[in-house]
Amino acid sequence: GMKQRLLVVANRLPVSAVRRGEDSWSLEISAGGLVSALLGVKDVDAKWIGWAGVNVSDEVGQRALKRALAEKRCIPVFLDEEIVHQYYNGYCNNILWPLFHYLGLPQEDRLATTRNFESQFNAYKRANQMFADVVNQHYQEGDVVWCHDYHLMFLPKCLKEHNSKMKVGWFLHTPFPSSEIYRTLPSRSDLLRSVLAADLVGFHTYDYARHFVSACTRILGLEGTPEGVEDQGRLTRVAAFPIGIDSDRFKRALDLPAVKKHVQELTQRFAGRKVMLGVDRLDMIKGIPQKILAFEKFLEESPDWRDKVVLLQIAVPTRTDVPEYQKLTSQVHEIVGRINGRFGTLTAVPIHHLDRSLDFHALCALYAVTDVALVTSLRDGMNLVSYEFVACQGSKKGVLILSEFAGAAQSLGAGALLVNPWNITEVAKNIEHALSMTSEEREKRHRHNYAHVTTHTAQDWAETFVSELNDTIVEAQLRT
Ligand code: UDP
Ligand code: G6P
Repeated sequence: GMKQRLLVVANRLPVSAVRRGEDSWSLEISAGGLVSALLGVKDVDAKWIGWAGVNVSDEVGQRALKRALAEKRCIPVFLDEEIVHQYYNGYCNNILWPLFHYLGLPQEDRLATTRNFESQFNAYKRANQMFADVVNQHYQEGDVVWCHDYHLMFLPKCLKEHNSKMKVGWFLHTPFPSSEIYRTLPSRSDLLRSVLAADLVGFHTYDYARHFVSACTRILGLEGTPEGVEDQGRLTRVAAFPIGIDSDRFKRALDLPAVKKHVQELTQRFAGRKVMLGVDRLDMIKGIPQKILAFEKFLEESPDWRDKVVLLQIAVPTRTDVPEYQKLTSQVHEIVGRINGRFGTLTAVPIHHLDRSLDFHALCALYAVTDVALVTSLRDGMNLVSYEFVACQGSKKGVLILSEFAGAAQSLGAGALLVNPWNITEVAKNIEHALSMTSEEREKRHRHNYAHVTTHTAQDWAETFVSELNDTIVEAQLRT
């Protein structure tokens, strides 16, 4: 039969556009876990709808960009500068993102955020309607429309109001916080009601799903059932669908001559030293300052290790127009500078900090030569960097130090050293433990993680979600 079409709607398209001329564009792969995971999904007839990361106000530019994106099966949603400012920088990344990760706003911003709330929320609703308009233009009967993440919580409602027969799923890539946190949000009820318009609502972990259901029962007074949330006989199915990666893609990359050469160069470059690695978007949720302070504590307490270890921190620039992110950048630079000044020698520094992204092959090589990966997220929906590291460690069998506040702690907990990133003494002790671990223990831990990462793929995740969505709709039809 005909393969069912899938419309994937996310704020961020898998490629971001850079303008090269009046009607010419180049496309670069976007950073972040949502894009990586969805790129790992193959064999579906999928189209992407989303924002290309640039403002394009002229028609010549818009037409040319549409054409360039069409080759990648992408359809752009054009947002103007003011909307991007209020919806993306404001409501999404200054309000929802910190709230969903249990990070309060800094004191000096709190009142300003309260004052701006309404206009930003209005922009959020307008932006979501703009995504809905593009979906409606491209929708064909029978399509599955899969909406992603906190940017698009208003979208399920916009879509269902236009066409109640549309099959709509919504998936959150961040944590959903405890209802005690969530209920501080002024627009709490509107957002919940809109998400509930979807047929299926998915989260990375059972805890996030449970938090969402409690928010619906406590704030909206609806009934929570083991299946989901019920409102006057209509069920919205709520469930956990832990995401994964395309582990084969990483394994294949490690066999390429170019990557092997890269591995060899890195091995030579850091000969005689153990390599520790961090790969994060430069985001407050990643606990980068905490990680670096823990590394400093370790150097303080283990003088013998000082010239035998190096920390490579890749900090991918992100959301650079949001003031909190700018502050974080200078804070991290200051700490790194201080520690390198304190423990560096004329020939070596303990921390290599890079404010840039890496291409896929360079990233694979780095993962492969690493002895200890450090993931210290203060909160993180899942964290795919931890999965990617494991996938690349088939021969080295290095150690993963992983925050207990990352969703991945629930799947990689048996193999990783779990830590509380707020406790830098504890993290420092685990660094020491990881670096001196026996090969038997390393191999045993690696086996656990590797088995999980290679059997719980992005492909399975997407297939499970879409088939559950189809089943949910069939069941709903049987009930009425
Ligand atoms: N990544 C990237 N560019 C880089 C370094 C990493 O795109 O220079 C990717 C990385 O491979 C991973 C994703 O960004 O797939 C980060 O996903 P994760 O779930 O760890 O965190 P998120 O950024 O989504 O919060
Ligand atoms: C996280 C979010 C994604 C987002 C990514 C990168 O993974 O869950 O929705 O795309 O960060 O952030 P950005 O703001 O650049 O899209």
